[in-house]
This record gives sequence, structure tokens and C-alpha cells, in this order.
Amino acid sequence: MALPTIEIAPSILAANFAALAEEIRAVEQGGASLLHVDVMDGHFVPNITIGVPVVAALRKATDLPLDVHLMTEKPERFIEAFADAGADMISVHQEATYHLDRVLGAIRERGIGAGAVLNPATPVTTLTEVLDKVDYVLLMSVNPGFGGQKFIPGTLEKIRKLRELRARYNHGFRIEVDGGLGPDNVAEVARAGAEILVAGSSIFHTPDPAQAVRQMRQLASEALAQKV
Ligand code: DX5
Ligand code: ZN
Repeated sequence: MALPTIEIAPSILAANFAALAEEIRAVEQGGASLLHVDVMDGHFVPNITIGVPVVAALRKATDLPLDVHLMTEKPERFIEAFADAGADMISVHQEATYHLDRVLGAIRERGIGAGAVLNPATPVTTLTEVLDKVDYVLLMSVNPGFGGQKFIPGTLEKIRKLRELRARYNHGFRIEVDGGLGPDNVAEVARAGAEILVAGSSIFHTPDPAQAVRQMRQLASEALAQKV
């Protein structure tokens, strides 16, 4: 069986916003697969970050797919706007909407990737009924709201459980993990079953973000190759 491809998704939250275009060039050169964009509303999470105009500007600045992570209450209010701005993937928190099934459908209707996100305390089984309606599941490995936090080790078991559910019901979604990832832990996270690895500070808070992307992808890919 072919090994899953590891995709590194740099989170621009940790980038220098005054030099965003240069920061993006660097991670493109390092082989980033996606650009992870953290949208926070100051309600669902205790922080405010960026919104629709920044996504529209990013769309013009890069060909990398834009992976928009909505940390907003009632994300259904914003799907149209982010899709129009050029998002290629939109993920919404299970905890942030009463109507997860409906909002996932609305994202897919726009012809873009639909993702469901879980906070660290939310079990993977809360998604059982929508796993055929997602293109990816994003497991938070920190409590959302801020970059630079420590990876929560219990995430590894959640990744394995989600992988089991996927196999049991023959689903095709990908598994993304976000928060506290870096060279020290990407190998075990990949071995547990994560395929899209989001990283902010361990990429942009280094002198050479391109090299940081390359190194993390290599470490994760090697871990998978050793496993078989
Ligand atoms: C946290 C965000 C993450 C964050 C990751 O709420 O969703 O995407 O930017 O940053 P690091 O890699 O620094 O933990
Ligand atoms: Zn994120």
C-alpha cells in the first residue's frame, strides 16, 4: 500500500504580517502544500486575528491552496464570504454551530473542501454521523486561540481513533492536526495517522522558514517509511 503523503501547512498566524508576501515565498520554496489561515472572532476563542480581506489578498499573492480555519461562533454566517474571497478549504468547529451537517453541506456546495474541527476535549465520535460529508477532519492539539502553545499528548490517541473510524466505515477524509507541532513531535504525529500538519511558530519563528518546512516534512515522511 502506498504511504500517505505528508502535507505541511504553515500557519501564517506566526508570520510577520508586515512582510507576509516574503514569508509566503519562503514557505513555498520549502515545499509547503497549503497555507493555513486562522480566523478568530474574539467570541469562540479569546483572540481576534484576520478576516475576509486578508484571505482575498492572500489569494492574489500565492497559488498555494488556502486552508481557512474558522474559529468563529456560528461559522455558517461566513462561508459565502470566505469562499468568494478564494478559500480552497474551509473548516468549522463542531462546538461552534448547532447545524454542523448543514454548514458542511454549504461548504461543499461551493465546490471547496469541507473540514470539521474538534477542540481537545471533544471526542472524535461526535463526528460519526458526518464523516461522509467531510474532506478532512482537523484535530486541535492545543486549545485554539493562540499560536506557540504546547502540544497536548492525548491528541495521539484521538488521531488513532479517528483513523480506526475512517477504516471501519471506509471513509476518504484526510486527517489534519493543528497546534504545538514542530521537529520534536511530527514523527509521532505522522505515525499516529495525521496527514496534514499545521505549524506556525516552529516555521516562522526560525531564521529559515523554508528549511523548517523541508525538515518537518522529511521527519514525518521518514517516520512513515520506517513504520512499514
Ligand atoms: C491555534 C491555531 C493554530 C496556530 C498554530 O488556535 O489554530 O493554527 O496558529 O500555531 P503553533 O504551530 O505555533 O502552535
Ligand atoms: Zn489553525
